[in-house]
Amino acid sequence: MSFVNRKFVSQIYIILTTLKPILVTAALPYANGPVHIGHLAGCYIPADVFVRYKRLIGEDVKFICGSDEHGVPITLKAKAEGITPQQVVDKYHGMMKQSFADFGISFDIYSRTSSTLHHQTAADFFKVLYEKGAFTEKTTLQFYDKQAGQFLADRYIEGTCPKCGNERAYGDQCESCGTSLNPTDLINPKSKLSGNTPIQKETKHWFLPLNDYTSWLKHYILEGHKDDWKPNVYGQCKSWLEAGDGLQPRAMTRDLDWGVPVPVAGAEGKVLYVWFDAPIGYISATKELLPDSWERYWKGDARLIHFIGKDNIVFHCIIFPSILHAHGDYVVPENVPANEFLNLEGDKISTSRNWAVWLHEYLNDFPNKQDVLRYALIATAPETKDNDFTWKDFQARNNNELVAVLGNFVNRTLVLAGNYYNHVTPGITHLHDSDRELLGILKHSLHQIGESISKYRLREALALMMDVARAGNKYLADHEPWKLVKSDAARTQTVMQVALEATALLAYAMEPFLPHTAAKLRSMMNLTEASWHHIKVCDLVPAGHAMNAPSLLFDKIEDEAIQKQIDRLQATKAAQQALTEAATGHTALKAETTFDDFSKMDIRIGTILEAERVPKTDKLLKLLIDTGIDKRTVVSGIAGSFSPEEIIGQQVTLLANLAPRKIKGIESQGMILMTEDANGKLVFVSPSEYVPNGKDVR
Ligand code: MF3
Ligand code: ZN
Repeated sequence: MSFVNRKFVSQIYIILTTLKPILVTAALPYANGPVHIGHLAGCYIPADVFVRYKRLIGEDVKFICGSDEHGVPITLKAKAEGITPQQVVDKYHGMMKQSFADFGISFDIYSRTSSTLHHQTAADFFKVLYEKGAFTEKTTLQFYDKQAGQFLADRYIEGTCPKCGNERAYGDQCESCGTSLNPTDLINPKSKLSGNTPIQKETKHWFLPLNDYTSWLKHYILEGHKDDWKPNVYGQCKSWLEAGDGLQPRAMTRDLDWGVPVPVAGAEGKVLYVWFDAPIGYISATKELLPDSWERYWKGDARLIHFIGKDNIVFHCIIFPSILHAHGDYVVPENVPANEFLNLEGDKISTSRNWAVWLHEYLNDFPNKQDVLRYALIATAPETKDNDFTWKDFQARNNNELVAVLGNFVNRTLVLAGNYYNHVTPGITHLHDSDRELLGILKHSLHQIGESISKYRLREALALMMDVARAGNKYLADHEPWKLVKSDAARTQTVMQVALEATALLAYAMEPFLPHTAAKLRSMMNLTEASWHHIKVCDLVPAGHAMNAPSLLFDKIEDEAIQKQIDRLQATKAAQQALTEAATGHTALKAETTFDDFSKMDIRIGTILEAERVPKTDKLLKLLIDTGIDKRTVVSGIAGSFSPEEIIGQQVTLLANLAPRKIKGIESQGMILMTEDANGKLVFVSPSEYVPNGKDVR
C-alpha cells in the first residue's frame, strides 16, 4: 500500500460511501390534527434539508414518510370529534400531506399505515418474529375501565411517572423524561375515558424481551455510535441502557379494536402495538414506492437514518432496532438525529390548547412565504436544546437577514446587470486580488455547507450560506460599481461578473434550505438545476449568458402583520383561560415563572398606622404604613370594603419595591396584597400571628 497516497485512498472511500443507498425517514406523524411549526422544526425540515443536499451531490437517497394512523391518539381524537377512527385519519391524512407539499418537504412518498400493503407488511413481520420464538407469551394483569368496558392501553391511561414525577405520563411513555413505561409502573393511574381509577384484569399478550437485547444494544449504540450520534440522543440511550433495573420486556400487542390485527391464533380482538406497526410503516412505504427494489434500501449496505423529535428517541434507538435485529434481514439505523422541542412565545406547543402556528393558517396570512418560515425554523432549530419561536424573531429574520442581506445582494447585482448590460453577463476583463478573494470564498462554500449538513448541523450550514451573501454585499460596498461605471467600464465589467458568479452560486447554495426561492432565482438568472459536483465557480454564468428581468426575492414584513399574529395567540390564551375559569370558578393559572423572577419581589409585613378616604373617589383609601424600615404612603382600592377607622393597626403584606405611581395626585409607594372571601368582599392577606414589621415574605 505504500505507493498509494492518502488522498487516493480517501477518494476511493468517498466513492464507496456515496454508492451506498441511503434511506432517510421522518417520523410518521399521527393523523390526528393539522401540521404545526413544531412538527416542521422537529424533524421534517431537518430531514428535508439533509435529503435535498444528498440529492444535490448525486447520492442514491430516498425520503420516506406517511401518516401514523393507528394507536390511541387516533381513537381518542375520534371520541372527541364524535366520528370513527377511519374518518379521523381520512380527514387529517390529506390535510397533512398537502401542508408538507406546500412547504416543500420533498418526500419521495407520503404513505399511510391504514393501507392494505402496510397491514400485510406489519402482520408478516410479526409472524416472522413469532415463528422465530422472539416473543414471550404472557398473561398479566392490565388496567381495565369497568365503566367504559375496555382495557386501557397507552394513552388511555395517565398517571405520575415513577422516574421524573411528571403527573401526565402515559401508559407507555413519559414525554417529559422520554422513559418508556409499562402501565403498571404509573403512580396513581387514571382512566382517560372516565377519569376513574381502573381495576386490573387478566389478559394475554406477546412481549419482546428487551432485556435480552441489552448487551447487543450496548455494543451497537454505546460502542458503535459514541462519536457520531448527537449528544442528546446518545446520552438518553446510555442512561436507559445503564440504568440499574435495566430494560424490561414490552408488550407488542394491545387489547384495542383499531389497528393491525395480531396475525396468530388465540389473539382475536387484539391488535399490534402502534409502536410495533408504525416504524414498520417506513418499510411498507418503501415497498409501495419501489415494489421491485425496496430491499436495496433496507438490506446489505444500506444506510438507514431516522429524523425524529426527542419524544421518539426510545422507540427509534432501542425498540425498533431490537425488532429489526430480531428479524435478522434488515440493517439497523446508522443515525437517529433527534431535535429537542420548539416552544412558541415561551409556552409549550399544544394541539389541544390550540397553542400553535398551523401551517395552513400561516399560508393564508403569509402567502408564498414558505421559505421565510423554513428559514426562521432552521435558524432557530432546537438542535441541542429546546428553543423558542417568537413572531418578533420571525420578523427580524425576514427583515434583517433575508431582505437586508440575501435579497439585497441578489437584487442589487441583478438590477445593475440589467441596467448596464441589458441582463447579459459581461465577462471578466482582468482579476484583482479582491476579486480572487470573493471567488475563493465561493469555491469553498458548497463544500463547507455540505460538511455541516452531513454532520446534522443545519443552523451552522444556513449561517455559512448567509455568509456568502454577506461577503457579496461587502464586495459591492467596497467596489461601488455604480460609481466605477462612470470612469472605468472594463473594471466595472469584472466587478459585475464576479458579483453575478456569487449570485449564481447562491442560487445553488440556498437550494436545500430555501427551495422555492432557489427555483425563482434560477429562473431569473436562467440557470438549470445542477449537481453540486458540477458547479465550477467562474463558469456558472459565462460571458454572454442572457438572463431574465429580476424581481424581489423577499419583502419586508410590517409590524401590523406580526401584531395580528401576536393578538391571535393572546386571544387563544384568553379563550383558554375563560374555559378554565368557567370550569373551576377561579382565574386560570398564570404562565410558569422562575424562582429568580420571584426573588425580585420585595414582599414584607407592615402595619397600617393611618387611613383616610381619597377625596372625590369611592374606592380609594390613602394609608400610612409602617414597613419596619420606613413609614410610607400607599393608595389602595379597598374603600368599598373597609372604613378607614376599622383598619388602623391591621397587619398587611406589602409589595415594597413596586415602582412608585401617582394616583389622584398622591404618590403611592407599594401595594398591599388582598384576596376575596366567598361573597367577593376583600380580605387582607396577613400573617396568622403577630410578626414584627419589616419581616420579609419568601
Ligand atoms: N406518530 C408518532 C408521533 O407522532 C411517531 C411515529 S414514528 C414511527 O410521535 F416510527 F413510528 F413511524
Ligand atoms: Zn418521566
